[in-house]
Amino acid sequence: MSANASYTHGHHASVLSSHQWRTVENSAAYLIEHLRPGLTVLDVGCGPGTITGGLARRVAPGRVTAVDSAAIVLDEARRTAEGVENIEFAVADVHALDFPDATFDVVHAHQVLQHVADPVRALREMRRVAKPGGIVAVRDADFGTMVWYPDPPGMDSWLPIYYKVARGNGGEPDAGRRLVSWARDAGFTDVTASASSWCYSTPAEREWWSESWGGRLLRSSVADKAVDGGHATRDDLQRIYEGWKAWAAADDGWYAVTHGEIICRR
Ligand SMILES: C[S@@+](CC[C@H](N)C(=O)[O-])C[C@H]1O[C@@H](n2cnc3c(N)ncnc32)[C@H](O)[C@@H]1O
Repeated sequence: MSANASYTHGHHASVLSSHQWRTVENSAAYLIEHLRPGLTVLDVGCGPGTITGGLARRVAPGRVTAVDSAAIVLDEARRTAEGVENIEFAVADVHALDFPDATFDVVHAHQVLQHVADPVRALREMRRVAKPGGIVAVRDADFGTMVWYPDPPGMDSWLPIYYKVARGNGGEPDAGRRLVSWARDAGFTDVTASASSWCYSTPAEREWWSESWGGRLLRSSVADKAVDGGHATRDDLQRIYEGWKAWAAADDGWYAVTHGEIICRR
């Protein structure tokens, strides 16, 4: 299996709090025009499943199959989906999907390809299980486009450490800019690309985002991998956390990140 040994971020509460904020509207708007009742959808790397739920509402009575390589996060996703009739969950690795060819109308992955060992192979698999005439839809952040203000001491050093941790685990944080290239390498010839951003600036957004990222760098498996890999000490991570909290406390705090998006016609 060529999947990464483990998902870089793990599924600590600090990590899940950012995933659980996500909806189809704020994280898959580029896909909305392609959704309609009756379609079948595969949501790859569904995490805690908040986007999955939105997809299910938009395609009902069509069915959504949601898969993730981590069984533990699927428990959370099942709780999120309680009462929703048209979702089913399974553990699966995107590099080797256990579905026949041409099964789904829409195959979707949000913030997944940046973490996998072989994004081109993953896209080939997603293409294989999409029906002819169906689509593969992918959105990933591009960490090189992350900008923020102000930049308090401590916070300035989180990104270089994150790059080392993510790449050390076989991922690619600058995935957004590479999606078109990966899709072409996977055999797609009809690829429509777009970009969209997230921006956080209100006091509530700053508090939540700083706790998610500052907390992740302090307590999640990102922190353990940073220390184990020799990229940072626990004291460095504590300083980074304090930097994030100083950013959140700044009345003029602002943060943005651009994402790459692709719609690939099968
Ligand atoms: C950043 S989270 C995104 C979750 C969800 N799509 C969202 O945006 O809220 C990435 C998810 O991909 C899963 N993942 C990582 N590698 C995978 C693989 N090889 N196959 C399937 N899922 C994978 C992780 O377990 C994690 O839940």
